[in-house]
Parts: sequence; C-alpha cells; structure tokens
Amino acid sequence: MDKTLKTWWKESVIYQIYPRSFMDSDGDGIGDIQGIISKLDYLKKLGIDIIWISPIFDSPNDDNGYDVRDYCAIMEEFGTMSDFDEMLKQAHKKGLKIILDLVPNHSSDEHRWFQESKKSKDNPYRDYYIWKPPVNGGPPNDWISFFEGSAWTFDESTQEYYLHLFTKKQPDLNWENPSLRQEMYEVIRFWLDKGVDGFRMDVITLISKDLSFPNFPKNFNGNHHIEYANGPKIHDFLREMHDEVLKEYDVLTVGEALGISPADGPLYSGHDRKELSSVYHFDILQIDRSSKGFYHKKGWGLPELKMIFRRWDKAMGERGWNSVMLGNHDFPRMVSRFGNDKTHRLESSKMLHTLLATQRGTPYIYQGDEIGMTNVAFESIHDYDDVWIKNTHAKIVQEGGNEMEFLRLVHELSRDNARTPMQWDDSFYGGFTKGIPWIKSNPNHTEINVKAALNDGNSIIHFLIQMLKIRKENQALIYGSYQDIDPENEMVFSYVRTLEEQKVLVVLNFTAKKIEYKIPKPFGSLDKKLLIGNYFDLEKEVNTLQLRAYESRVYYLMNKVIS
Ligand code: GLC
Repeated sequence: MDKTLKTWWKESVIYQIYPRSFMDSDGDGIGDIQGIISKLDYLKKLGIDIIWISPIFDSPNDDNGYDVRDYCAIMEEFGTMSDFDEMLKQAHKKGLKIILDLVPNHSSDEHRWFQESKKSKDNPYRDYYIWKPPVNGGPPNDWISFFEGSAWTFDESTQEYYLHLFTKKQPDLNWENPSLRQEMYEVIRFWLDKGVDGFRMDVITLISKDLSFPNFPKNFNGNHHIEYANGPKIHDFLREMHDEVLKEYDVLTVGEALGISPADGPLYSGHDRKELSSVYHFDILQIDRSSKGFYHKKGWGLPELKMIFRRWDKAMGERGWNSVMLGNHDFPRMVSRFGNDKTHRLESSKMLHTLLATQRGTPYIYQGDEIGMTNVAFESIHDYDDVWIKNTHAKIVQEGGNEMEFLRLVHELSRDNARTPMQWDDSFYGGFTKGIPWIKSNPNHTEINVKAALNDGNSIIHFLIQMLKIRKENQALIYGSYQDIDPENEMVFSYVRTLEEQKVLVVLNFTAKKIEYKIPKPFGSLDKKLLIGNYFDLEKEVNTLQLRAYESRVYYLMNKVIS
C-alpha cells in the first residue's frame, strides 16, 4: 500500500463520551468535565486513542447540547473553560487525543446571532439564518423537521418563517452567507489553537441547501434526510473550510454523513479532496428502520448487513476513509440491537467488538459498550427525556394514537437507550452521581458495571483490551484490503483482511445456534494461528469450525497449505 496514506487517525480507536451521562463529579446529577478527567486513566487502560466528546458548549439543552448558544464557551453544568483546559492537558499527557463535536448546521435560537437575526429584516445578522416569506398564507414548502412537525416556524414580529430541520429551538444557519462561514472558521480555529485534535461534525451533509427550496417530490418515500442532504455547494463549503483553517493543523475531522450514498463517501473524505478526513454513514445505524421514520421498524438479515459493509468498503477503502460504528448516542445499544442481550450478552458483545475492530475504518466504541450496557425499558413515557420522544409522543396523543404501542417502540428504538448513566459500580445510580441523575439509571447496573467487569477476567472489557492490542499489532487489520468470503451466508460473517504477505481471517457467528462452519476455499485449507476468540476452550480445528453461540475467531493465516 501507499505509505504516504498512513495517518495516526486511521490507526486509532475512538471512544465516544456523552458527557451528560458519563460521570458526575459534583452531585448535580449531570455528568461533567471533572468527571471525565477522573476517568482518563480508565480510558487509557482500554487501549483507545481518541475521545470524541458530544457537545460541551454553552446550550439551553433543548437537544442536550446539539443546540449551541455560544460555540466558544463551556456549558455551565459541565464546568468551566479551565476545567476544559485541564482535561485537554491531562489527556494529552496520557497520550489520549480529544475531538470535539462541532454543530455547524444550526445553532440554538438563544444564540446571539439568532437573537439579532429575528429583530428585523435589515439586521446585519438576518441573513445568518434562513428566512422566507409565507407562501399562500403557510410555510414556504412542505419540509418536515426530523423531530416532528413542519421544518418552518413563523415569527410574528417580522412576519416570516425560519427554517429548522430539527427542533424550532435549532434554527438552521445560512452557509450561503460568507460572514457566517468566517465566524464558523473562527470557532474552529479557537478550539484548534487550544490544542484539540479535531472534530466530529454534526449533520455536516445538511449545511448546503437547495436554494429553490422545492416541495418533496410526488413519489416521496419519507426519506427526508436524502432530500435535505448533499446540497449543491456542500463540497465548496467543505473545501473552503479546509483551505481557510483545517489545512494548517494535523487533525481528524469526521463528518456525520446523514443521507449520503457510498458513491458520495469519497467525495467527502477522499485523500485528494481536501475536505474531511473521514465520514460515518447511516446505512448500518438505520438498518432496522423503514423509510417512514425513526419509529418505524423494518426487518433485516445478515446478508444485508454484509452488503452494506462491502459497498462502503468498495467505495471508500482505497479512496477515502470509513468509520466503523454500531451505535452512538442516537441509537439503541449495540448489544440489544445486533447481538443478544438476553441469553448471550457477553459472547455477542465480544463478537460485535471483534467486528468493530477488524473492519477497514476507524472503530468507534460508544461509552458503556465496553461493558455490554443494554437498552432500558422505563415504565412511563415521562421517565424519558429525549426531545424526539417527547415530540413524537405529543403528536400521538394529539392524534389519539396508541400510546402503549409507542412506549413499546421507545423501549426498542429510542435514543435514550444509549443515554442512561454510565454504570461504574453496583451502588446507587451505578456510581454515576451522588445526587439524582438527570435521567434514571438502567436497573441492571447492579450486575452490569465497570467495577465488576474489571474484576472478572472473562468480561467484555478484558476481551476488548486484548482485541484492540491485536488490532494495533496487525497492520493488516488497519490498512489491509477487505474481502467478504461468504456474502450469502445468513448466520456467519467471515472475511479476510490482506496486507502484502499478511492475511487475517475473521469468523463471526451472528446467531445463538451451534454451527458447523466450513471456511470457504482457498482460506479453509491454509494453516492458521488463532489470534483471539471469545470462548476459552478452543480446540485445534482445521478447515471446519464448530462455532458456538455468537462465537468469534480471528486467525492469522499462514502461507502454508495444510494437508
Ligand atoms: C445529530 C446528532 C443528534 C442531534 C442532531 C441535531 O444527528 O447526533 O444527537 O439531535 O444531529 O443536532
């Protein structure tokens, strides 16, 4: 492979912190920066390299920080700027990098820019947002917000609508305006000059709008993110951002790439594009959702999952850089969705961590997945906090819909599944806070917690630590090409990563069944050395494996045929 394409962030593993739920140091029930500092040694021990922290900027928290009131100030509940500086310094000292979560598509309606913007049509900040006059006495078009209702809100005083693809407290910024763009680059520079190691960029694919603001097409299938994403100037804006500020720093930028196809991927993250380092797509994260929306399920099977991995690898493998992710703060828990949190929580979590660490792309571990935290099922809808749940619930009540059915869907599909407090030990609220947490803890913290996991040699954490070491030691797992060797198999996911002479074979049983698995030719007949597996008592097996429930194995393949 081309050695000039090697970078630190391709070789790194990312751990995502949702700060509100990670660790509370002062007993107010809300996680904070000092809480993060107290856990840096723990993160170092896991073997991760980069911490992505969900937004920590000053915010009224309509959407837990994804509604920024001041991009250069720290949210009061999280601490102060000196706490931040201390965190960055300590992390760097320990060899950990930190990337922040920039929210460039929209701000809070309480941001100074919006406060000015809505004052009058000729205010210098008017054009920082997207304002339109009514059409036939109603909104300018039929766009809907991701979080329910029209994407337009009418402002009485100036008699115009403003656009918000998320809540009405998250007005979309107008990237067509050059001064707005410069302000955003200044924000980026402010944090980079402090020494942060890059950014995750929230819904970056939405920043360029189709200026004709068309209605949805006649045959609209409900996939509004596809209609909004990838606007005509997206690459101009990203290139400008790169040229104006990013190019001066050696940083990682990863775009949250809602609504793009594999073919678009390298346009955002291609080595020669000078835009972003990497993106993460939604094809896997939304594999169980129909185009009708977030609370609409669809079935999926292993061949479909494999196809998505193949397609994205084919598009991005040589030309861009992928992210490998099975969950984050916007989706249910990895093990509850892709594994089995009832009968095989341990085995299936380990199997999924094996998948994350062995695909081509930077692996993302979401907080709590290292101990196999699971979805939660609160009894009442009022135990939930997410604005998306609240808005959808309000709509269902208004329309006289089935509230019990909705609660059931929330248990399975909602974002709050991933937002319950981190489970550190078996004490009250899992040791997350000495006060009352902002959202209830998952009652299973008495069994599933970091303390117990660290004390148990067979735990997910100890497996993960080993797995990440193996990834680091085998460059084929980082830079090697990717070959799905059994695409149609509905139960077993097996693939080979190849870098020059090195070949690594990964075999994952995605079911609770015992499976006799014949490794496809020619790999089955190669001599192999087991690097890691999620069961202890491994027999020496040749080309037919007896896979147990959710068993995972990673083999180094020798260039020697076994007789
Ligand atoms: C992204 C974030 C999500 C947020 C939304 C609006 O999808 O990950 O949490 O609600 O953008 O900012």
